[in-house]
Amino acid sequence: MSTSADPKKLRPATNLVHGGILRSQFGETSEAMFLTQGFVYQNMESAEARFKGEDPSGFIYARFGNPTVAMFEARMALLEGAEAARATASGMAAVTAAMFGQLKAGDHVVAAKALFGSCRYVIEELLPRFGVPSTLVDGTDLGQWRAAMRPNTKVLFLESPTNPQLEIIDIAAVADIAHKGGATLVVDNVFATPLLQSPLKLGADCVVYSATKHIDGQGRTLGGCILASEAFIQANVHNFLRQTGPALSPFNAWVMLKGLETLPVRLMAQQANAVKIADFLAGHKNVERVLYPTRADHPQHALAMKQMSGGGNVIAFDIKGGKEGAFRFGNALSIVKISNNLGDAKSLLTHPATTTHQRIGPVARAESGIGDGMVRLSCGLEDVVDLLDDVEAGLKAVG
Ligand SMILES: Cc1ncc(COP(=O)(O)O)c(C=O)c1O
Repeated sequence: MSTSADPKKLRPATNLVHGGILRSQFGETSEAMFLTQGFVYQNMESAEARFKGEDPSGFIYARFGNPTVAMFEARMALLEGAEAARATASGMAAVTAAMFGQLKAGDHVVAAKALFGSCRYVIEELLPRFGVPSTLVDGTDLGQWRAAMRPNTKVLFLESPTNPQLEIIDIAAVADIAHKGGATLVVDNVFATPLLQSPLKLGADCVVYSATKHIDGQGRTLGGCILASEAFIQANVHNFLRQTGPALSPFNAWVMLKGLETLPVRLMAQQANAVKIADFLAGHKNVERVLYPTRADHPQHALAMKQMSGGGNVIAFDIKGGKEGAFRFGNALSIVKISNNLGDAKSLLTHPATTTHQRIGPVARAESGIGDGMVRLSCGLEDVVDLLDDVEAGLKAVG
């Protein structure tokens, strides 16, 4: 590739290998890991210029920016088609900063009920403590979003597909409701990944990721990212991160950069496994219901086909026999590991009711369609024949 190729004209897989590289004077092939807290200045004047913001390409302190972290941010921005990106220490740091950075006491937030447990904690418990009440709605019901809007509603928040029940929420329609009410829409795009769904193109104002999941993809480091227009980042995110300090470490940024290089290959292989496993599950007598976005029997199948280019690597399914059935299934697996994580090269099984969604209690779980028999399977990179054998053995143990 010519070093002068315009990255905006290149396809994602190319930018995921080359995008955002800052090469040092040594011309290293792989991205360098700059393990440094600070930077030295050539003279007093250049220190002054950097602090005045007159030398935006120069780094000051790793809480504000670091070359390895900057490479990760640039590559993420290219992938998402966003003007600006800011890396964070974890996905939850990204969610928290994207919300708190925009809000002040007296504002109001509307969010879909079906949220990852920690996101729900931030919106349902933490924000109200700071004078920002929130209303939770059924995200698939646009009437509920409209009805929840108040004159002081400032931010709408959703995940789609949702964790763990894989509900699909109409991002373009919710963005429209937000904008008509003078609010912004923040989308947690973890389950879809930037390769399968582009919330900014659908009208969202801000996208957040747990890079811990598919972007690392091999279960090593925590990380997160916030993507939006330059104006949004400057107004809401830049200073919040700089002063409060949830910075991504350069080591973790380097791991994420290497993860991004292989993201398309990994994700497509994992998705191919998920499609085959979902079909197998749907025909099994010990499975009551299978949820996978691109299957024709998914409740929001048409919407999934409209706003996503693939179903991703996660399947949710209800096992006969409630919690007992789900536990028997999980305990009989040998290749698929029991974990609360997802997006890994290793296939991982989660029982949301007793782990990730235990805190919200049985009423909220029932409202969100998370039964005691529901399990979430994040399909990995193993041979699908071995995975199918493992799942079949697990289902046999259900009885
Ligand atoms: C949908 C969703 N959002 C946010 C997060 C939080 O990410 P992290 O664990 O990197 O803080 C997770 C993690 O499990 C998630 O599944």
